[in-house]
This record gives sequence, structure tokens and C-alpha cells, in this order.
Amino acid sequence: MARKLSLQSLCVKEYKDNKSTKPHQLPIYATSSFDFENMEEGIDIFTGKTEGHVYSRYGNPTIDTVSQKLADIEAYGTGLQAYGFLTSSGMAAISILITALLKTGDCIFTQGDLYGGTTELFHKVFSRSGIQTIIADLNDMDHLEYELQTNRNIKMIYIETPANPTMRCVDIHAITKLARKYGVLTCVDNTFCTPIIQQPLALGADFVIHSTTKYLNGHGNSISGVIIGHEEKYKKQIWSTLKLVGATCNAWDAWLINNGIKTLGLRMKKHSENAMQLAVYLTKHAKVKKVNYNGLPDHSSHHIAKKQMKDFGGMLSFEIDGNTKQVLAVINKLKFCAMAPTLGDVDTLVLHPATSSHLNVDKLIREENGITDGLVRISVGIEEIEDIIQDLDQALT
Ligand SMILES: Cc1ncc(COP(=O)(O)O)c(C=O)c1O
Repeated sequence: MARKLSLQSLCVKEYKDNKSTKPHQLPIYATSSFDFENMEEGIDIFTGKTEGHVYSRYGNPTIDTVSQKLADIEAYGTGLQAYGFLTSSGMAAISILITALLKTGDCIFTQGDLYGGTTELFHKVFSRSGIQTIIADLNDMDHLEYELQTNRNIKMIYIETPANPTMRCVDIHAITKLARKYGVLTCVDNTFCTPIIQQPLALGADFVIHSTTKYLNGHGNSISGVIIGHEEKYKKQIWSTLKLVGATCNAWDAWLINNGIKTLGLRMKKHSENAMQLAVYLTKHAKVKKVNYNGLPDHSSHHIAKKQMKDFGGMLSFEIDGNTKQVLAVINKLKFCAMAPTLGDVDTLVLHPATSSHLNVDKLIREENGITDGLVRISVGIEEIEDIIQDLDQALT
């Protein structure tokens, strides 16, 4: 007769999942590994003969459900079969994509006004593995074509539009058309817009990345990123790089993104409406030298934004007429808006790029790209606009 399990072993043993009906909401699969019914099943999954989960660094039902949902949203209406990989941060998404697809001797062609961390990553990390970065004006198509013709080491054009924090746009379709002609890959950081406002895949991009930390989560309670692509030939290479580097997202953060995406459409609409009203208010303020918002007809990128964005989004920046000390004093006076170095949350967030996000970017590159000491960035929230304006008004006064 089989021996009865000891009380100690019963405590240790993992019980069978007692689920009887399908959960309405996506569960958090907080498990590092997955059991096999028998060893044959395990071998089939490991060898790729059948689909299944084995280990959460390779894949996990919560993470995979959310990454596919994000891919479907980015590719919505394009007819493309997109795939997505959630990563441990937005920086991890950029790093994994480039590590997977580029090698020593290859070149990234990009703009000078990227998110500061991305610029640093390219110049300080990838340069050490022999992947060089060329910075240029991505709207200068003649120059781009000349570079693509003469420098066959350019393997990827990396775009961020609107750029952080100048809101300058680059024409995605014009670039992807040229890139395809020369067999060069394109990647767009779509963090500022989200697919509700801009769909780079529909404009010909090969890849989209996001810091999902921002609008996709929307509530500021997770750090993660996503890589979205549609060409099957790159999928395995990206997945195996992600799996081996180990920069995977975790189930809890994926679940938080899943909650956030449900209100993405509503939030982006309200963010855009509020940002437009705030931009108009700021343009009229005597202490404000310049407002960078794509919704303003006199913004240098308004015509490109109108062509490729369905709305103008919740991000803007403005230049205060004053030195760093005076600018910081204005920010310190804010009572309602928060001083936080992130963006895309439901509440309004203010940041001084020169002393935070772009602190480690060379001052010359920074200023050449419009990121002056007087520049203030605002991630306009979804509160009542009157409360936001009133707070800025009292701080500026
Ligand atoms: C436009 C943009 N891309 C990428 C990143 C990096 O994302 P994460 O902080 O999630 O690594 C940021 C971060 O602020 C960003 O603003």
C-alpha cells in the first residue's frame, strides 16, 4: 500500500490549479516555471515541436498575452501580423533590438534630439561594441539618401517622433521609403504618441519600441518596454537575444500595462485636449519665450505632425525667459503639478530636461537641439485643465 504523504510534504506540494471557469480578467502567472504532464511533452516544447511555456524568462502567459495585445494595437488596420516582446524597461527594448540585429562595424543613423538615455546608450555603450552612431537632421532627405548611398555600414535608422523634449517631428513615411530602397531597417520610438495617435508600422517602419512605463501603463506604477515587429525573419533572433540577455518583463508589470491599455483611447484624447489648451495659454504668457507643441500651427513640425498623427498628444515644452536659477524657482513654486522625471501618467508632471533627463548629454549637442537651460517639459495630465493652468499661472507670476 502506498505510503500516505507526510504533513510536511503536503505543505510543500504545489496543489492543482482549482480554476473551474475562465477568469474574466487576465491572471498574473507568478511562476518561474511550468510543469510538464510527462517528459515527452517537455521535450516537444523545448524542441519547438509544440507550443507551450517552460520557464518565465522565455515566456509567460500573462506577459505573452499583453505583448500580443500591444502588437495587435500597433498593427491595427494595417493587415500586418505583428509580434511583440515585453522587456524589463524601455531602454531594454532599444538595447535588445539593436543587440539582436546589429553587429560590430554596423552604423545607426539617427537624430540629435533623442531621449537623453537613448543618446547615451548609443554613444557610451554600443560604441564600445563597435556599433557607431551618426547624428543628422532626419528631415534632410537629400543628405539621408547620400549617406545611404555612400555608407553601406548604415544598418538601422532610429527615429523618435515627436522628439523628447523639443516635440520636433520627423517624417516617418519619407524615411521608411528611402530606407527600404537601400535595405536599411527602421525603428520608431512611439512612446510619446502611442498607437492611438501614430502608427509607425502603417507608415512603413520595421519596428516600433515603447517605454511602456509611460502612456501605455499610464499610472506610473511599472517600468517596462516593448519591441514590436512584423517581419517573421527577425522574430526568432529578437526572442533568443531577449531570452539570453534576460531583460524580460515580469508578470506583475505586464498585468499593470494590461490594466492601463484599457483606458488608453480615453486618456490620449483627454491628454491631447488639455495639452492644446495649456499650449495656447502659455503662448500668451509674457514670461514664456517659446512653446513647443505640435498642435500649434506655427510650430516648426506642425505640418509633419498633421500628416502622421491623429492628434497632438499630451507632451509639450516651453522656454522661460530667464536663467537656470529663475527657471528652477518657477518649477519649485508649483503646488498642484508634480516634479517627477517621467511622463505619460494620468497626472501632470513637470521636468527640467537640462538638469535631469539630458544631464549627461553634451551641452553643445543639447543646445544645438533646442534643449536649453530655460526649457521646461510638461507631461499634461487628464485633470481639469483649469487646475493645471492656475498652478502654472501662479508659479510663473
Ligand atoms: C521617449 C523615450 N524612450 C525611451 C525611454 C526609456 O524608457 P524606460 O525609462 O522605460 O527605460 C524614455 C524614458 O523616459 C523615453 O522618454
